[in-house]
Amino acid sequence: MREVPLAASGHPDRIRWNARYGDDSAVSFHAHPLAAQALSSALPDGPVLDLACGPSGAVLAAAAAGRQVTAVDISDVALGLLDREARRRRLRDLIALVHADLGEWRPEPERYALVLCTGYWDRAIFGPAAAAVAPGGLLGWEAFTAEARRVRPTLPAAWCLGPGEPAALLPPDFTVLDQHQQADSGRGAKRRLLARREDRRRAE
Ligand SMILES: C[S@@+](CC[C@H](N)C(=O)[O-])C[C@H]1O[C@@H](n2cnc3c(N)ncnc32)[C@H](O)[C@@H]1O
Repeated sequence: MREVPLAASGHPDRIRWNARYGDDSAVSFHAHPLAAQALSSALPDGPVLDLACGPSGAVLAAAAAGRQVTAVDISDVALGLLDREARRRRLRDLIALVHADLGEWRPEPERYALVLCTGYWDRAIFGPAAAAVAPGGLLGWEAFTAEARRVRPTLPAAWCLGPGEPAALLPPDFTVLDQHQQADSGRGAKRRLLARREDRRRAE
């Protein structure tokens, strides 16, 4: 894994999300339903990667299932909360916390049984994230769609999925297991993807 030290401590995403997570009463450590779905699916052996993890219940659930987990986020406050909860649950040894900007950090190719990203979209990280899925592994993603900008006009277009994305951006060795629009909770429309990477060794 290539870990990039977070040089830009003044990064606006870090400042914004540290402030949000500052009130830790709002943190539930609830595993995202997509994480629950992926972790209950057939997965090859190997670690899990959670991108833009926040104080992630998905990381805790994967570790509780015996997986090594790499959790990446720009918010050191989120990672601190996750650290504390993982210690409380005696899962800390299974978790690598990576404080990094996903604008720069890139995962090792073909390493992870599951790569998960919920609540974050940057087209530039999608290709490297897909490449990081091990043969036979899963890629799970959920993010706002462009329609979300109707109810949240300040949401930057670059943070929103375009038509058919993210499935439309998958490399050809992935099969879409499910892609669907989530019911709009009032905060804007989201789309959810679960896809499996072909295991060519099995196909031969
Ligand atoms: C909406 S939250 C989603 C958290 C978690 N994945 C979930 O589904 O509950 C977005 C997360 O993206 C992280 N984030 C925002 N910009 C980032 C960046 N440039 N690099 C890494 N993480 C970032 C935030 O710190 C925050 O934890």
